[in-house]
Order: sequence, then C-alpha cells, then structure tokens
Amino acid sequence: MSNSWKRKEVIGDCTLYLGDCMEVLPTIRSIGAVLTDPPYGLGKRMQGGTWGAKDEMSGFLEWDLEARQEWIDAILALKVPTVIWGANYFQVPAARCWLFWNKVNAVPTMADAEMAWTNLDKPAKRFNHPVGRVEFGHPTTKPLPLFQWCLAMLGGGGVVLDPFLGSGTTAVACAKAGRRCVGIEKNESYFEIACDRIRKVYAQPDMFVSAPAPQLPQQLGLLKGGEG
Ligand SMILES: C[S@@+](CC[C@H](N)C(=O)[O-])C[C@H]1O[C@@H](n2cnc3c(N)ncnc32)[C@H](O)[C@@H]1O
Repeated sequence: MSNSWKRKEVIGDCTLYLGDCMEVLPTIRSIGAVLTDPPYGLGKRMQGGTWGAKDEMSGFLEWDLEARQEWIDAILALKVPTVIWGANYFQVPAARCWLFWNKVNAVPTMADAEMAWTNLDKPAKRFNHPVGRVEFGHPTTKPLPLFQWCLAMLGGGGVVLDPFLGSGTTAVACAKAGRRCVGIEKNESYFEIACDRIRKVYAQPDMFVSAPAPQLPQQLGLLKGGEG
C-alpha cells in the first residue's frame, strides 16, 4: 500500500509530511491540539497593484486561490484545543475566544488586524506585533512571537498539529517550547524551508526559549524579532 504523503521527515520532536493534508490527516493519531493558518482564498484579490506585483508574492497567488470549508471541518472533527488563523473566511462555530493580531505598523491599504478562531474557554485576546518583511522565502510567514503566544494560549500538552505548515512557524514555536509537533505542507519548496528552520532551532544550544508574555516590548515592535 502506498503512503498518503510524498516525504516524511522527523527532526527532533517534529514530524513533517510533504503532502495534501486531506490525504495525510486521516493517517495521524493522537493529536493534542491544532495551531494552523490555512490559505484564506485571497489570491485573486491580490493580483494587481504594487503588492501583487512583488516577486516574493508570486507563490502566494498560486496557492491562495481557494479556501475550502472541508479543511476546517476536518480540523474541527478532531475536537481538540484549536487555533485557526483566518477563520473569518470560513464557517466556524460561535466562539468566546477569538484572537487578534494587531498589526501595529499597518498602513491604510493593509488590514489592521488578523483574526483567529479558537474553541478555548477564555476571554478574547489581542497580540500587538508589527508585520515583518517577507522572510524564509514564504510570502505569508507568521511572526514567531505570535505563534509562541498562541501555543501558550493553547496550553496543555500533547502533539500540536499544523496541517498548513508553510515555512514551519508552528513547528519552530513547538521546538522552542519543547512540544511535539506534526506538520503537513503540500508545496515542496515550503516544506524544505520548514525543515531547514526546524533543523536550525534544534542545532541551537539555547533552543528552549519560553513564549513571550503578553505586552512585552517586542510585541510593540520595540525589539527586533528573530529565530534565535
Ligand atoms: C497561510 S500559509 C501558512 C503559513 C505559515 N503559518 C507560516 O508561518 O509559514 C498556508 C500554507 O498551506 C499550504 N497548503 C495549501 N493547501 C494545502 C493542503 N491541501 N495541504 C497541505 N498544505 C497546504 C500552502 O502551500 C501554504 O504554504
């Protein structure tokens, strides 16, 4: 019987699959939580203007053409603590704890914030952090401090799943927090980027760096963010 993935890499406590999450997900057991950031289906809207014309955005225009409800339904069916960025583009249940990324350096033509749906029984929360430049060769890499904060919001233990791994921010946050992670990414070059980032984290002697507490200076853009 053939595998539902094209490649599998185990790096430290992270297991990464190159493949389509709808094919790989049914083969994965024992998921403790989900932290993910699926395509929002905005590719067509971003075709024009200076933003869409940027070289580093070309990949984005290909993979962000659709936002499929079946992805979200499959994640919700797992019934584990979950954070889904861009969930305002999908149908999700009523929720108490939406998370907001307040883009403190947003210009008027950009969104001031992004929203994540959660099934956590906590008050809604906001994270202040600037939008950075395109990093790691992926057009929509999320800020690492933002995902470290999400991981802290999720709490608990167990394996964290990201079925839309992109450049691997969820796995980097997990590696730094000493949590196990399973990531799935369909695009081979993004998969390579994620593997490289995670290898570098495990190669660092100080890899266990705790998540930042809310409202620290780096959230306000006063300190430079980074992987280290
Ligand atoms: C918004 S990006 C994730 C970015 C990520 N949070 C990061 O910080 O790098 C969504 C990713 O999902 C991937 N993707 C799209 N459809 C997929 C599918 N069916 N299975 C797995 N990955 C998929 C895209 O290639 C893209 O890299």
